[in-house]
Amino acid sequence: MKRYDVLIFLINKYQLRSYLEIGVRESTTFSRINLEDKIGINPGGSTLSKVLSITSDQFFLQNDRKFDLIFVDGDHRSAQALRDLKNSLISINDNGFVVVHDTMPHNLEYTQPNWCGTVFRAVQEINQDPSISLHTVNTDHGVSILSLEPSPPGPLYKDFFDFMDNLSLCLNIVTPENLAHIKFYGK
Ligand SMILES: C[S@@+](CC[C@H](N)C(=O)[O-])C[C@H]1O[C@@H](n2cnc3c(N)ncnc32)[C@H](O)[C@@H]1O
Repeated sequence: MKRYDVLIFLINKYQLRSYLEIGVRESTTFSRINLEDKIGINPGGSTLSKVLSITSDQFFLQNDRKFDLIFVDGDHRSAQALRDLKNSLISINDNGFVVVHDTMPHNLEYTQPNWCGTVFRAVQEINQDPSISLHTVNTDHGVSILSLEPSPPGPLYKDFFDFMDNLSLCLNIVTPENLAHIKFYGK
């Protein structure tokens, strides 16, 4: 299962209609999202239609609409990822989702910014909020799903190795096979 399979599963099951992707690159994911109402963000120029050549911060500064689904996959450094997650969570509809990629670095090497970076740290911080629920599909370097549902704060880990030792608990891991059994929004 790839990151876009998780997104497509949510779109189909919850009949989502609008999509924002932060960090599009070659459109591997964006081109697979079959929704009329979609916008991509990718700084540094893009010839793709519906993709804006601005940073996520610039986008959210002027954004005044909400989306059913936002995929966060831009700058993988924790401070920027955290800002993207916070901005995204206030930009989804009540029954919407924020999905974030690269939350399960396999080892310390993978925490370099051009790989998974430190997105996992941003997710830990978001997971302290009792009004946000977190599930992570154990696939494609970690695909985490955030929804606006009450949930006890997640554990605080000391460092990367502590995080790795308690991965399942820290990220609330589900297998790809079990994704279909999660009851988001009671459905
Ligand atoms: C990992 S790639 C995205 C891959 C794509 N989402 C996919 O599924 O194939 C990360 C992208 O984020 C873009 N990016 C970096 N900083 C960004 C920022 N501040 N705002 C939006 N996008 C950013 C990079 O230019 C790069 O194209």
